[in-house]
Amino acid sequence: MELIVKPDRVKAGLLGAKIIAQVVRERADAVLGLATGSTPLSLYAELVRMHCEEGLSFKNVVTFNLDEYVGLDPSHPGSFHAVMEKHLFQHLDLRPGATHLPDGCAADIPGSCEAYERSIKAAGGIDLQLLGIGGDGHLAFNEPGSSLSSRTRIKTLTGETLRANSAPFGDLDKVPKHVITMGLGTIMEARSCLLLAFGTDKAEAIHEMAEGAVSASCPGSILQFHQKAIVLLDEEAASRLQRKQYYLDVYAGKPEWQCWE
Ligand code: PGA
Repeated sequence: MELIVKPDRVKAGLLGAKIIAQVVRERADAVLGLATGSTPLSLYAELVRMHCEEGLSFKNVVTFNLDEYVGLDPSHPGSFHAVMEKHLFQHLDLRPGATHLPDGCAADIPGSCEAYERSIKAAGGIDLQLLGIGGDGHLAFNEPGSSLSSRTRIKTLTGETLRANSAPFGDLDKVPKHVITMGLGTIMEARSCLLLAFGTDKAEAIHEMAEGAVSASCPGSILQFHQKAIVLLDEEAASRLQRKQYYLDVYAGKPEWQCWE
């Protein structure tokens, strides 16, 4: 796991966009795993800028999102379909049908979860999976206690996650309690992972994830087993790290051929 600490979330978001842009430049038909939440928004804005001003093309890129609410129409502004459309998809040159999210309105949820896993495989697997992390260590919507080898399936959100995600719904009671999420086993098959975390609310989860024991109690800790996981932090999210100086030294001494900036 490579931990990179930037002075603030803006600089971290810019570096995250450079990392994704490099994947897309190296492989025009890259398969990107995408995430929602507030954390990746500055990264998405920078990808849109790179597309508009630098000609970064996504016309052969395929995307798979981590998760979606159950029973929420894709046109609802709180749905992850709508969030992705608003902040990213409508601004890029992605082909129709190239973007995928779990179908939270499927009549047969287990069947649609299996179909989602099959489509990821049929696309050749995910080249880079973008991730956030919950204050409780959840990865995608794999809440603490999730199987470390889980696949795409239905999950029930914890009270903490319901509260954290309540803004677009106005009222806590209106947040859907069930979601479909890629599993931890699904995420671990991505060829690389890029996790972003900002703010003091994430500091303890980041310490547990990177420096604690691998445990279903902190689902993010499964990334300790990933061969290529980059964790991009602002100073606040890095504030509880015990080996912070070492991570800073590693980044400062990276050979040029490994650098993005
Ligand atoms: P956030 O959510 O980006 O809104 O903090 C991240 C997550 O819950 O995984």
